[in-house]
Amino acid sequence: MHIIKTTDTLFKRIQFFKNKQKILGLVPTMGNLHEGHIKLILLAQKYVDIIIVSLFINPMQFNNELDFKKYPKTFYKDCEILKKLKIDILFAPKISEMYPNGTKMNTYIQVPKLSEIIEGKSRPGHFTGVTTIVGKLFNLIQPNFSFFGEKDYQQLLIIKTFVKELNYSVKIISLPTVRLKNGLAFSSRNRNLKNQELQKAPFLYQVIKQTINKIIQNNGKNLHKIINFSKISLIKKGFLIDIFDVYNAKTLDNFSKEQKKNILLASVWLGKTRLIDNKKFIL
Ligand code: PAF
Repeated sequence: MHIIKTTDTLFKRIQFFKNKQKILGLVPTMGNLHEGHIKLILLAQKYVDIIIVSLFINPMQFNNELDFKKYPKTFYKDCEILKKLKIDILFAPKISEMYPNGTKMNTYIQVPKLSEIIEGKSRPGHFTGVTTIVGKLFNLIQPNFSFFGEKDYQQLLIIKTFVKELNYSVKIISLPTVRLKNGLAFSSRNRNLKNQELQKAPFLYQVIKQTINKIIQNNGKNLHKIINFSKISLIKKGFLIDIFDVYNAKTLDNFSKEQKKNILLASVWLGKTRLIDNKKFIL
């Protein structure tokens, strides 16, 4: 595994592989690697010759300074995991390498509407930070494929949108959410959960599944009642709810009974940790 910290070195290494007609795959991460990342890398191995993993805790996508500072940093442990997976390049730049003029003065990529609703409403600027860094990585690496988890569903749709609308040639491959046996979605943020919170956290996915079953049984009727009931049971368990609602799985427009493909998106706080999860369903 070749650890690269500068864009110049990365560019030269990428050209070397491109000249050899290699198929390149990028797995963008913010480190603190877990089973979800490992599964993404294993999936990437099926598609490409050369795997590049980026590890960059992107300050531009944190709308809260404290959240950025608290984000788990586990560089050496991450390197061990990546070495075992035999990836080819780990790109781990410093902030000044990616944003020489600072994050506020950097040209940005913004997807209208999709990046302003739901999670984007709660975290203004978050998705612009994501699309800008992912766009920069795509320009630097020019991967044939790039791999993302479906846990961050709105992020995935936004990335697919800018790739299409800005004519990037990379193919986006997504992986269904990887879960612990108890249903809790793997996330770097789980590390911040205290013991008691870790025991409560799987309840979120249980409630998501129960809610969807009820919506299907009721054929889309009484949606607000069903959602409110679920929210109350989450609150009683100690969750603070930011988002818990059903949307059109393709457009993220509000639910309407006419549409078939839906998604329940949830974003909740457990203590000081924000957890997100989702599940698609057909009506
Ligand atoms: O999903 C993430 O970990 C980040 O948002 C990403 C895609 C690596 C961009 O910083």
